[in-house]
Amino acid sequence: MRTKLSSTAVKSGGIALHNLQKRYGGVTAVDDVSLSISPGEFISLLGPSGSGKTTTLMMLAGFEMPDSGQVLLDDKDITRLPSHRRELGMIFQNYALFPHMTVAENVSYPLQMRRMAKVEIEARVRRTLDQVHLGGFASRYPHQLSGGQQQRVAIARALVFEPPVLLLDEPLGALDKKLRQHLRNEIKTLHKQVGKTMIYVTHDQEEALAMSDRVAVMHEGRIRQVSAPQDIYRRPADLFVASFVGEVNLIPVKLRSGVVHGPAGEQLPSAQRPDVDRDATLCVRPEHLRLEITGAGSSGGIQGRIVDMTFVGDSTILEFCGDAGLQLTSKVLNVSAEAKLGIGDACVASWAANDASILTE
Ligand SMILES: Nc1ncnc2c1ncn2[C@@H]1O[C@H](COP(=O)(O)OP(=O)(O)O)[C@@H](O)[C@H]1O
Ligand SMILES: [Mg+2]
Repeated sequence: MRTKLSSTAVKSGGIALHNLQKRYGGVTAVDDVSLSISPGEFISLLGPSGSGKTTTLMMLAGFEMPDSGQVLLDDKDITRLPSHRRELGMIFQNYALFPHMTVAENVSYPLQMRRMAKVEIEARVRRTLDQVHLGGFASRYPHQLSGGQQQRVAIARALVFEPPVLLLDEPLGALDKKLRQHLRNEIKTLHKQVGKTMIYVTHDQEEALAMSDRVAVMHEGRIRQVSAPQDIYRRPADLFVASFVGEVNLIPVKLRSGVVHGPAGEQLPSAQRPDVDRDATLCVRPEHLRLEITGAGSSGGIQGRIVDMTFVGDSTILEFCGDAGLQLTSKVLNVSAEAKLGIGDACVASWAANDASILTE
């Protein structure tokens, strides 16, 4: 939870994007993007490659001009302001440190550009290097550092002039998985310490869910949903979001007078029961799909059998095939009873009514 703002100390770093549009020739890279970001918020732009994340960030930073729409920083229209006057810190995947400069010189660079006094520069550089746990590395050169350390120098260089907003474009993309996880925790901790607005671009859904106050899911230049991570996962707004964020079973259903019918006409559990007559899709996550031996007195579900089982360490993936041919996937922890089922067992697949989402697009 963020602290409430008092009226005397209004926090800076609020951003508003209004109907941003950007075309390159025949390609619409960003298509009518609107988004409000609160001061101090950590928000991710999540989407597959080519969905318009970088272009959105570039328009925010002032490296690209939108064809139409506006960018506001703390209610001031900065759409046409050159990037060097926007006071936004930027961090990219290819951190682009100056190779001939030491860590301290790299980090002090933005302050030298701003002609700050030497003693002030030294104090700020020391403080910022401590923040990113590089206090002892001031006189090293970039080639004497690991990839993760180099990325921390890039973060320090973006933080040192204390901008109200940090823009991060796939900053961990070049690093291996363990290091990514470690640095993502560090960036989160840093966010709590410095309280800056952070806009984080990634195609990695786990990263976005783990780090963000809110996630904006992008697809083909448009924002499909903006919500807290739990809501993106539990209540996806459309089929794209449901499939892109996590694994999901998509079950074709028919809605008839407030009842949800499966492929063989069976009644399926769902808390959402739109009172319309139409075809729809029921989404249920593999960890919510329960498989019970047939005859256990179930309250609605799909009859079928287990056709495959894969052991993946802490859990088992069960492949289920319904009598009408529908394939479903269930993921169960190996400590649970379901992990003891076997291939060929006749089962009924069901889920708690609250764990289903109905999409009618
Ligand atoms: N400078 C450019 N010239 C032409 N097309 C571009 C340019 N930058 C981006 N695009 C196109 O715009 C779309 C969105 O790109 P981008 O914003 O880089 O996506 P992302 O960062 O989500 O991978 C893509 O189809 C890409 O090819
Ligand atoms: Mg990109």
